[in-house]
Amino acid sequence: MRKVIVAGNWKMNKTAKEAAEFFAEFKPLVADVKNAGIVIGVPFTALETATRETAGSNIKIAAENMNANDSGAYTGEVSPLMLKDLGVEYVILGHSERREYYGETDAIVNEKVKAALKHGLKPILCVGEKLEERENGTTEKVVEEQIVGGLKDVCAEKMANVVIAYEPVWAIGTGKTATPAQAQEVHAFIRNLLVKMYNAEVAENVTVQYGGSMNDANAAELITQKDIDGGLVGGASLIPEKFTVIVKAGDSAVK
Ligand code: PGA
Repeated sequence: MRKVIVAGNWKMNKTAKEAAEFFAEFKPLVADVKNAGIVIGVPFTALETATRETAGSNIKIAAENMNANDSGAYTGEVSPLMLKDLGVEYVILGHSERREYYGETDAIVNEKVKAALKHGLKPILCVGEKLEERENGTTEKVVEEQIVGGLKDVCAEKMANVVIAYEPVWAIGTGKTATPAQAQEVHAFIRNLLVKMYNAEVAENVTVQYGGSMNDANAAELITQKDIDGGLVGGASLIPEKFTVIVKAGDSAVK
């Protein structure tokens, strides 16, 4: 059985103070969640507050990016060791906004994925096609390249700590969600790809999240699809009550 994980991605939102307020409200709302994993990705400046406020709870904290090096002359960057030191467990890597605005290639993302795994951080590897790629029929090719590139030299054993998030770029922040059938189709493709890259056991056990305008109204029908194992949620993760509904939809979905 694979784990359903519902992750929030706050992006460049919330100060440390606002993060503390969020967790004070959110923690009791999800205290009874047992089956689903709960992860929230917060800006670097809120990580310390977030890990402190969630210590001992069922909520895990993610960074939204990371440098692949341990330390050194990389002005403005944050290393995996620094994240580990704060009690961070996950790191969102290769988000389409990083690829689009900061030039992150599959090779760069791959270095970060390997660095995260080396230091015991769990990468959430984001992949997904742009609108023109969906329209010209290259969705599977694009997603395959991103997964093969992002997971280069990652062995089957390490895959137990990898989460994949399928996020069609045209659905992110647009209010335009992929239909459950559209999303399921790509998720099934990803799982088959993992069979080819690794083996059936790895493919069966990897959590593959859907992301892109997931909200409290559409989460249940997406997460109940056979190969959709939770969500990576942007906008709707900023509001405790809304995000709770999504977490609970994940908690009742059995894979
Ligand atoms: P959204 O963002 O839920 O606001 O569409 C998802 C994401 O970018 O991870």
